[in-house]
Amino acid sequence: MLKPAVIGKDGRTTAIIKSLESSPRVGKGNVLVLSEWKNIPSFEEAAGIVMAKARVERPDFVVIGPEEPLALGIVDRLQTELGIPCVGPTANLAKLESSKAFTRELVAEYCIDGNPKYRVFHCMDGVEDYIRALDAEGGYVVKPDGLTGGKGVKVSNAHLFSIDAGLDYCRELFASTTNPIVIEEKLDGEEFSLMSFCDGEHTEDMVPVQDHKRAYVGDTGPNTGGMGSYSCEDHLLPFLSREHLKAASDINKAVGQALYKKTGERYKGILYGGFMITRSGLRLLEYNARFGDPETMNVLAALETDLADIFEAIVKGTLHQVPVRFKKQATVCKYVVPEGYPENPVKNVKIDMSAVPAESESLRRFDAAVKEVNGELILTGSRAVAFVGLGASLAEAEHLAEEAASAVIGRVFHRPDIGTAELVGRRVEHVLSLTHAR
Ligand code: AMP
Ligand code: GLY
Repeated sequence: MLKPAVIGKDGRTTAIIKSLESSPRVGKGNVLVLSEWKNIPSFEEAAGIVMAKARVERPDFVVIGPEEPLALGIVDRLQTELGIPCVGPTANLAKLESSKAFTRELVAEYCIDGNPKYRVFHCMDGVEDYIRALDAEGGYVVKPDGLTGGKGVKVSNAHLFSIDAGLDYCRELFASTTNPIVIEEKLDGEEFSLMSFCDGEHTEDMVPVQDHKRAYVGDTGPNTGGMGSYSCEDHLLPFLSREHLKAASDINKAVGQALYKKTGERYKGILYGGFMITRSGLRLLEYNARFGDPETMNVLAALETDLADIFEAIVKGTLHQVPVRFKKQATVCKYVVPEGYPENPVKNVKIDMSAVPAESESLRRFDAAVKEVNGELILTGSRAVAFVGLGASLAEAEHLAEEAASAVIGRVFHRPDIGTAELVGRRVEHVLSLTHAR
């Protein structure tokens, strides 16, 4: 039997735990949580707790859910001090997510396709000229280096409504950190995520997924961590051609190999490419060095291969020997979130799940920011519970997820439009309008 451990507490980590527990090599209740990694006082203190537990329990490997412990070096500590292998990169390799300048430069240096026009700045010299030039061509985006919880990226005409506002933002960033900033061309199109398992040499793709960042119906309201996501039975997306998917897959593969060439270290974990289909083809928006949340719920619900076998192959460097397969089913994931999320979420109030249909092969439930107190489920202030419907079509999967999400009683909301024909149709129209405007 294997003894895996995880770090994290969110829908994604619950999905990893559930998927591992369904392996005959692990079994129910046998995944150790080394740390939820919530309300961390300092890295040293949190890492100390992880290390003490890992030293006693000696898990076979540790899977890291969120980005912060990766960027701060938890993998370095587990591997070098205890010799415990990890599914997740060292801090140096996690720069793929924690440094946007590192990633743009890596992709350029190894002649990998996908970068938009960009430049890296270490001070204000040249910033104004570059912003003006990009603005004249259609817009610009300012990206600070470092983990910013999705809040650092600002886009012209969405967050920055004049050149002066863009310059002020850059000055503000340089005043508060010594990190560089990336300024790049603003792209228009449809975004999707392609996550690949990577053992440092070989990559195996998961199915592509589309997330929904905005809080409210019709893609309105503030940006969130992701309100829900879908994937399709043909393992494409309604606006994504086989050629574009292949191009994204090639980029993930090339990036995995470039990381080794650049650093001499093998990237073991998840390469999460954030891509956009634009009028000029596929572009790379960003990399994350971990599983996506909510995308992980879609892909792991559809995974046919034993996840424990995949993780073991990642740490051993034998991923090419494991055939990674997914069900030919559509999946729709909907997050139920507290009223007021993301800005002012209610917390410490209970939700009633008694009317929610039971879990089955075609309906999965993943608890996230909830805790159980005296048999009741209490909201803790972030995305609370996710449901994934699986079906022969998006419509079937959407119906199942919607039925479950709308049956949760309490001070919560979700997006009924995720996975519906109307919303998906609008995305296809968007891509068509760009290609026709060529
Ligand atoms: P990132 O963290 O780099 O993915 O940026 C967060 C979000 O900003 C992305 O999911 C996009 O919605 C948006 N974004 C990032 N880069 C660009 C770009 N070059 N053009 C337009 N939007 C972008
Ligand atoms: N779904 C977006 C993320 O995981 O970063």
